[in-house]
Amino acid sequence: MTNHIPRSFIDELLARTDIIEWIERRVPLKKTGSNFNACCPFHNEKTPSFTVSPQKQFYHCFGCGAHGNVISFLMEYDHLEFVEAIEELANHLGLPIPQEVTNAAQQRQTPLYTLLEKTANYYQQQLTRNEAAKTYLTARGLSAAIIQRFNLGFAPAAWHNIQPHFKPTAQSLSEYITTGILIKNEQGKIYDRFRNRIMFPIKDSRGHIIGFGGRALGEETPKYLNSPETPLFHKGSELYGLYEARQSNPPPTQILVVEGYMDVIALHQFGITNAVATLGTATSAKHLQRLFRYYPEIIFCFDGDRAGFDAAWRALEVSLPVIADGLQIRFMFLPSGEDPDSMIRKIGATHFQQQIQQALPLEDFFFEHLCQQVNLQTLEGKAKLASLAQNLLYKIQNGVFQQLMLEKLASLVGMNVTTLSQHYEEKRPTATPSVPAAKSQGLSSVPLAIALLLQYPALAATHPLPEALQDINLPGMEHLRKLFERLKANPNLNTGSLLEHWRDSKAAARLGELAQWDFFNPAPEIQSRLLSDAFNGILAQDREKKILILEDKRTQQGLTVLEKESLFNLYKERHEQQV
Ligand code: UTP
Ligand code: MN
Repeated sequence: MTNHIPRSFIDELLARTDIIEWIERRVPLKKTGSNFNACCPFHNEKTPSFTVSPQKQFYHCFGCGAHGNVISFLMEYDHLEFVEAIEELANHLGLPIPQEVTNAAQQRQTPLYTLLEKTANYYQQQLTRNEAAKTYLTARGLSAAIIQRFNLGFAPAAWHNIQPHFKPTAQSLSEYITTGILIKNEQGKIYDRFRNRIMFPIKDSRGHIIGFGGRALGEETPKYLNSPETPLFHKGSELYGLYEARQSNPPPTQILVVEGYMDVIALHQFGITNAVATLGTATSAKHLQRLFRYYPEIIFCFDGDRAGFDAAWRALEVSLPVIADGLQIRFMFLPSGEDPDSMIRKIGATHFQQQIQQALPLEDFFFEHLCQQVNLQTLEGKAKLASLAQNLLYKIQNGVFQQLMLEKLASLVGMNVTTLSQHYEEKRPTATPSVPAAKSQGLSSVPLAIALLLQYPALAATHPLPEALQDINLPGMEHLRKLFERLKANPNLNTGSLLEHWRDSKAAARLGELAQWDFFNPAPEIQSRLLSDAFNGILAQDREKKILILEDKRTQQGLTVLEKESLFNLYKERHEQQV
C-alpha cells in the first residue's frame, strides 16, 4: 500500500511534523544537550537510553536498537498500520490526504468491503421476513432502534442463499469465499457459512463491515459462529461496538470492555454507549493499545465466578506492559451467573453506572489477588508476596505508576521502599542490548558516505557525488546514489524523512544503523573532510577490485592489449594515490 502514497506528500508531511511533539505526548522526554532522552518505551530499563534528535527527526535506543522516524514511532508505539500513521499525522496538520492515496488504498479493498456491506443489507432484509428471528430478538428485549443501530440481520436456514440471491461472477465468487461468507470445502462444494443465525455485522473503527458473528436461534452449537480471519478481519485486534461507541458526543473518557455481542448491544440500548467486546478471544495488548488511543481509562467487566476471575487476571497480566502514567485500568465483577446484558435489565442503567464507578482499580485487584495467595502474618508470606509481585511489576513501564506500586508493595511487606527498589533492581532481568553491529567496528567507505549523508544531509549540496563515482558498482552504491538524488530533488529532507524512502526496502535496517553511527558531533569542516575521504576510499576500493579482476584474468587466460593498458593505468593511479 506504501507505493500508492505519493512520495512528495510523505516528504511534506514529515517536513511539517515535529517528532519531539509526537513522542513527548506519549513518553515524557528530558532535554539533554541538543537531544531528548527517556527510558525506552520499547524495552524495560531504568536508565534512559532512548534518544530523540530534533535535528535528525529520528529516535534511537542504545539499549534495544529500536529506531526510526515519527511514522515508525506511531506504527510501533500506537500499533498503527503505515497508512493509519500517515492519516494520523495528516489529520493533525489538517492536510487532506491526496485523492490518489485514498483511492489507491480503497481500490485494493473496496470489493471486499462492498460485498460485506451488501451481504449485511441482505441479512437485514431477511430479518424482516423471518418471524422466528424477529420473535427471538423481541424475546431478548432488543428494541427496533437498537436492531437498526447495530444493523442486525438474519441468515436463512438453507445451505444456499447467497449465491442464488447475488448471482456472483467467478471473480466475485472467490471474493465471497475470501470474506468467509461462503465456504468452499475440499470437494469444491460452495455453501453459506451462516445458516439460520441472527447476524451481527462487525465493523472496524470507521464503520466498515469487516466480518460477522452469527448466533444460533436455539441450542445449536456453536452458539456463536464468527467470520474466519480474512484480509479485513483480525479477531485479535478488533472490538465489537467500537465504531458505535465512538459516535457518542461528547466522547466519554472511559470505555467498558465486556465479553459478548449481546452485552454490548444491551448496554447501548440502556444508554451505556461506551461499551465494547472482544470477539470471543482473550483481551490482547493490541486491543488495549487501540482503546487507549481513544480513552484514558479502561474498565473490564467480568463475571464474578471462577472463570470470570481467571479471565480478569489474564487481562491484568496483558495490561501491565501497556499501562502508562496517565492511563487507568479498573475491574468490575458481576454477581456469579450474570452478564452485563442480564444485569442491566435487572438493575437498570443508573445502578449499573454506579457499579461501574465502583470498579476496582488495577492496583487493588493486583494486591488483593496476590495477598490471597500468601499469609501476610508470617515473614515467609511477606517474602513470597514480594517475589510474586516483583515478577509482575517488572513488566510495568518505568514511571510514577510503577513507583506507586512498589511503594504499596513495600508497605505490605513492611520494607523500606528504597531497600525494596534496590533489591528489585538487582533481580530485574536486564534487557539484552543489541548494540548495532556498526558501532563496534570501523566503517568502510560506502557505508561511511551513506552514514554522513544520512546524518548531515546538508553535505549533499556542497559535496555533489563526483562524476567518477556515478558508475561504480560496489555494495551499497545504489543507496548512496539514491540519497544524492533524493537530496537534489529535496534538499530539506532530514534523517527521518530520508529513511522514509527506504521503509520497505531490504536495506532499511542497515541504513537505520548507519543513521545512528556515532560521529561525536564533528564540526562542519570535519564532516566534509570525512565525506571527501569516503569518496576517495570508494574510488580506491573500486580500483582494487578492478585490479584483482584483471590480475586474475592475466593468470587464467592472458590480457588483451586494451586490458593491459587499463591495468597499467590502474597501477599508476594506485601509485599516485599512495605518494
Ligand atoms: P457468551 O456465551 O457469554 O455469550 O459468550 P453471550 O454474549 O452472553 O450470548 P447470549 O447472551 O447467550 O446470546 C461471550 C462471547 O464469546 C464469543 C462471542 O463473542 C460471545 O459474544 N463466543 C461465545 C463465540 O465466539 N462462540 C461461542 O460459541 C460462544
Ligand atoms: Mn448473555
